[in-house]
Amino acid sequence: MPDISIRGRVIGYGAKPEPFDRSALSVIFIHGSGGDREDWSAQLEGLSDLVNVLALELPGHGASEPPSEPSVDAYTGWVVDFSEALGLERVVVVGCSLGSAVALSMGLSPRPWLKGLGLVGSGARLRVHPAFLEGLLKDKEKALDMLTDYAIRNNPDETFRTVIREKFRRCAPEVIHSDLSACNAFDVMKEVGRISLPTWILVGEEDKLTPVKYSQFLHDGIPGSRLHTVSHAGHLAMVEQPAEFNRLLREFLSEII
Ligand code: COA
Repeated sequence: MPDISIRGRVIGYGAKPEPFDRSALSVIFIHGSGGDREDWSAQLEGLSDLVNVLALELPGHGASEPPSEPSVDAYTGWVVDFSEALGLERVVVVGCSLGSAVALSMGLSPRPWLKGLGLVGSGARLRVHPAFLEGLLKDKEKALDMLTDYAIRNNPDETFRTVIREKFRRCAPEVIHSDLSACNAFDVMKEVGRISLPTWILVGEEDKLTPVKYSQFLHDGIPGSRLHTVSHAGHLAMVEQPAEFNRLLREFLSEII
């Protein structure tokens, strides 16, 4: 399990292949609120024959040292520093939810090495229902049960639901609260038209946290973007429909390589 020291802090990430060629196209995957590198296991396994796959853990998540950050902008700074510390020469950033807000922010202030964006379960504004924010402070188990049900497709099998519930259990509730607060303050509705990078948007048809309408707004606003709606998936399409997710992302990446 590689890690790297950035600003004197250990930042964890999954990487495949390892070691890898820094000049080849690298995809940095960024998890959502309360996530970690495990969210991208299927992409680490399924795409590393095509590109370098890096599943970064934001500060305070997984193996990355705390504290977490209170804003999307602050997280964005870490992703930029991570990419530059590793010396990556050509990068596509793919984020889910909070991670997609980071990707959008990077797309609005692009570095020369940034070659494309992937927005999964995304939105130009990510208002969070007060029931999640208040619930995490008052009755975290109940709030995390609710968040699990909102995050996944309708009528999931119980094993899958347990896997996602356990995923949220791996992260401190205060960190999830802080992440969701960062999402709640995020709003680039008026700016997305400035994004000029190739942009790939994917949303689960049954996404209850960031409905398809949010991705349609991004698609309408970002010139040349492409939008995929995946059935039998909610907010975590990369976990819920990994084969279809990887097939569609592979198509996009093949054009950038
Ligand atoms: N893209 C496009 N449209 C958006 C949008 C986005 N990212 N965010 C909001 N809108 C639209 C809404 O659909 C709504 O349109 P309508 O008036 O035609 O119905 C309008 O803008 C206002 O919506 P919103 O800003 O969400 O305010 P609200 O007061 O209606 O609702 C919440 C606030 C929190 C209740 C609502 O966002 C919600 O139910 N969220 C639950 C899901 C959640 O917590 N997601 C977490 C994301 S990380």
